[in-house]
Amino acid sequence: MAGSILLASGEIDVLTLFMYLLIASRLYDPLQSSLQNLAAVISLRTNVERMDEILFHPLQEGKAELTNSGHDIAFKEVSFGYGNGENVLSGVTFTAKQGEVTALVGPSGGGKTTVSRLAVRFWDPDSGTITVGGMDVTKTDPEALLSLYSIVFQDVTLFDNTIMENIRIGRRDATDEDVIEAGKMAQCLPFVEKLADGWNTMIGENGCELSGGERQRISIARAFLKDSPIILLDEATASLDAENETEIQKALSKLIRNKTVLVIAHRMRTVENADKIVVLSGGHVAEEGSPEELLKRNGIFSHMVALQKESSEWKI
Ligand SMILES: Nc1ncnc2c1ncn2[C@@H]1O[C@H](COP(=O)(O)OP(=O)(O)OP(=O)(O)O)[C@@H](O)[C@H]1O
Ligand SMILES: [Mg+2]
Repeated sequence: MAGSILLASGEIDVLTLFMYLLIASRLYDPLQSSLQNLAAVISLRTNVERMDEILFHPLQEGKAELTNSGHDIAFKEVSFGYGNGENVLSGVTFTAKQGEVTALVGPSGGGKTTVSRLAVRFWDPDSGTITVGGMDVTKTDPEALLSLYSIVFQDVTLFDNTIMENIRIGRRDATDEDVIEAGKMAQCLPFVEKLADGWNTMIGENGCELSGGERQRISIARAFLKDSPIILLDEATASLDAENETEIQKALSKLIRNKTVLVIAHRMRTVENADKIVVLSGGHVAEEGSPEELLKRNGIFSHMVALQKESSEWKI
């Protein structure tokens, strides 16, 4: 437009205008493509920051041989924050005894998952000590430490492989018979029987062809196969159907005999059957004791029990 006015008034000739247009278009193209790449450049920066974070993370070290006697898990005055300045746990002290079921309960964000992460040394505490059978976990090689634990979480990772191979992850050198035995103990048989290829059925990406309860039973089967002395269990918050829940309870009660069991409990039945309850609230141990003791105390725990009773009585 401006060019044509200038051209008409004779201030520039056709050639100049043409050159101008040519240069302008040459300038535009690279500018546009670099603008298109701007988003990629910005996200690259985030990626590099993340890689840096991983690369500069101090390596956890420790002795490879295990010096524990027994498998009591003891937290002493443990304080911890995720590094953003906020303290998630402060002065947490409790013991989960071998041969007992210790239930961690409390309001959301109270620090239950954090406690279980510290117990397996996914993180190290800022102060205080965590011991397994008297052995300081922060002085133990993480891999050696993990050999003591079976972890049963709801969001279990399954691989796009057969049920057989997914259970065998619990112990790599287990025979097919061992795997099936563990699967049966974990109450997997009722759903495996219905599948076309039984134990050799492919289960799809992350077990997408199985229900939540079935996936959890596979993870319990892994734990049976591993047969480790400590069980860490994060109970499902999502409601399982009654049948599934009974099956899982049956499987678990066999699994946890004579072991140290630390369970993040959401369901009343687990909580009532626990030997000891630790109520975590705001990063503190707010209450501690047997279910009966705590019910009498009329504190957070008895309040939670009352609320759950109320909601379980609701009928639609
Ligand atoms: N990876 C993390 N990085 C930073 N903060 C975290 C991280 N994980 C948890 N937190 C924070 O730590 C606090 C305790 O979280 P935690 O997951 O231990 O609670 P919880 O008792 O397990 O809760 P819920 O019952 O909801 O599972 C919360 O305030 C949470 O926001
Ligand atoms: Mg949690």
